[in-house]
Amino acid sequence: MKIAVVGLGYWGPNLVRNFSASDRVSDVLCCDLDRERVKKLVVKFPHVQAVDSFDEILASNCDAVGIATPISQHHSMGMRVLRHGKHLLVEKPMAISSRECEELVRCAEDHKRVLMVDHTFLYTGAVRKMKDIIERGDVGDIYYFDSVRVNLGLFQHDVNVIWDLAPHDLSIMDFMLAQKPVAVSAVGVNHYDHMEDMAYLALHFEGKMMAHVHVNWLAPVKIRRILIGGSKKMIVYDDMEPSEKVKVYDSGVKVVTREGIYKTLVEYRTGDMFAPKLDQSEALGLVVKDFLDAIELGRKPVADGETGLRIVRILEAAELSVKKGGAKVHLQ
Ligand SMILES: NC(=O)c1ccc[n+]([C@@H]2O[C@H](COP(=O)([O-])OP(=O)(O)OC[C@H]3O[C@@H](n4cnc5c(N)ncnc54)[C@H](O)[C@@H]3O)[C@@H](O)[C@H]2O)c1
Repeated sequence: MKIAVVGLGYWGPNLVRNFSASDRVSDVLCCDLDRERVKKLVVKFPHVQAVDSFDEILASNCDAVGIATPISQHHSMGMRVLRHGKHLLVEKPMAISSRECEELVRCAEDHKRVLMVDHTFLYTGAVRKMKDIIERGDVGDIYYFDSVRVNLGLFQHDVNVIWDLAPHDLSIMDFMLAQKPVAVSAVGVNHYDHMEDMAYLALHFEGKMMAHVHVNWLAPVKIRRILIGGSKKMIVYDDMEPSEKVKVYDSGVKVVTREGIYKTLVEYRTGDMFAPKLDQSEALGLVVKDFLDAIELGRKPVADGETGLRIVRILEAAELSVKKGGAKVHLQ
């Protein structure tokens, strides 16, 4: 297959590297408005063919295009890719509104093309292992999903911290948990311009499950941590750990009798902890594999357009909630 990558800033070169590494890809084309970035990339990957513009990529005979440009451009560029009969891998988040995402999904269906969103975390060994553990029933009933994704910078030009960082946690949650949220309430503030640089999202579900996502560009330390609590086990996923990123605790609470709750006759289970072995394959390599498989086998990738749309619906609702001072916004 012949693949093109548009946008060679921070993330695009990673797509180029992974497409180039696939023996199913014969040619990689690329372009960026910034000539210096193109020059730098071609020095690193001499086999890659640089072209002058996105129009040239559309006019080429490439089979598929990866879009790694700023979020505000995903919809317009993605629609043009699909209308030219090419398969589309678009960076996360899929677009800046659910309406734009719905149009992309419909356009891909109309043109019978693969539409995939690069929710890279779904392809990490850690997230796939946690999904296995949860689906096996080892964690029991899920009580909560609680994530913290904070660091200093990088401020994005076109979106706030919710749109930049929360897609990771929301896509992980969407992938691992069968239950989907029904409403969102969020608070956030901006300190330097009109875009929020820190935010707290609360996700509401039918029943007693709760989820919370904390994102912040103004934290002095980098934290990437998710806690999942269940009736049988609890999981800690710390992506900053060099090894043993996932730890499963046999800890919990056992209420001896109903009266026991009031007499504090609860037993705290502090059992063993185990750190499962994780697949170390590069997640983006598996993203590329799933995309190429989907094209060749005519099937949907794991992170398909519907997945991207569900995440954007939550982001959109969270942004609206922030504007309404934290009011609960229902998801359709
Ligand atoms: N999957 C992940 O884990 C992950 C990680 C980082 C970024 N991203 C996503 O990747 C996308 C890009 O982020 P980034 O940090 O690389 O941004 P960036 O600003 O570093 O790079 C964007 C590049 O696109 C180029 N560009 C813009 N318009 C163009 C056009 N019309 N034609 C050709 N080139 C054009 C810019 O010149 C720039 O070089 C965003 O959607 C971001 O959310 C995903």
